[in-house]
Amino acid sequence: MVEIQKFLIYRNSGNGDIHYDRFEVPVPKGMSILDALFYIQDYFDSSLAFRYACRGAICGSCGMTIDKVPLLACRIQISTIKTAKKPINLPELKFGDHPDWNQETEILIEPLPNMTILKDLVVDMKPFWSFYKEIEPFFSREWNDTAPESTQSQSQMKKIEQLVYCILCGLCWACPVSNKNPNYLGPAQLAKAERFISDSRISKEKQKIIVSHIAREDAVPACEKYFVCNRVCPKGVMPGTAIKNLRYEWMDK
Ligand code: SF4
Ligand code: FES
Repeated sequence: MVEIQKFLIYRNSGNGDIHYDRFEVPVPKGMSILDALFYIQDYFDSSLAFRYACRGAICGSCGMTIDKVPLLACRIQISTIKTAKKPINLPELKFGDHPDWNQETEILIEPLPNMTILKDLVVDMKPFWSFYKEIEPFFSREWNDTAPESTQSQSQMKKIEQLVYCILCGLCWACPVSNKNPNYLGPAQLAKAERFISDSRISKEKQKIIVSHIAREDAVPACEKYFVCNRVCPKGVMPGTAIKNLRYEWMDK
């Protein structure tokens, strides 16, 4: 017999109407949280808004807060959510007054924290992308540069490998500093800065440019070492550790 799972879902029309809706979804084996949202959209409420693309934990689009933990909805199976080990010492993530939430039987779904909510589970990622752009996360060459392509040894690649895994999902913006300082560059952005600064192919000039961005008051110096980012990152990027490395390698501690 197919089990029924109850959901309590944050709704926000974008016009001031904020409330929570309850749904009951039949759950076949292997169903993910994202699958359940599709079911709700298909059978109960086609206006439910959420983002997704790859459905395979690669694109970073489906980040949301599930049972008070920032997670990728496509990566989490409904059958495991209540028993899975949760990251410790997360800040309280509050979006609105929800009706009594039965933590044992209901899955609570809310948007990502510390971002403006556009509709239901869809947040405005513009600040995330503009801070990302600020650290200039790319290499560029002149169109007529005929120097041979840059290569890397395995050990040079290993140095940045973990940082390359970032899928820019924004889960690490659950950081308490992002909550209180809207100008904070952000853990993902700083991890990306470390990824480029430490890349063996970077020029000294480019290194200097990135360092100038991460040294500003609202970047590396603003990190308060909560390490929430390390605990919620679904890809093991460890942005907090990257920020610590930036601090020790590039600043006056
Ligand atoms: S560092 Fe981790 S949590 Fe942050 S955006 Fe990248 S993958 Fe997502
Ligand atoms: S849909 Fe792409 S990461 Fe979940």
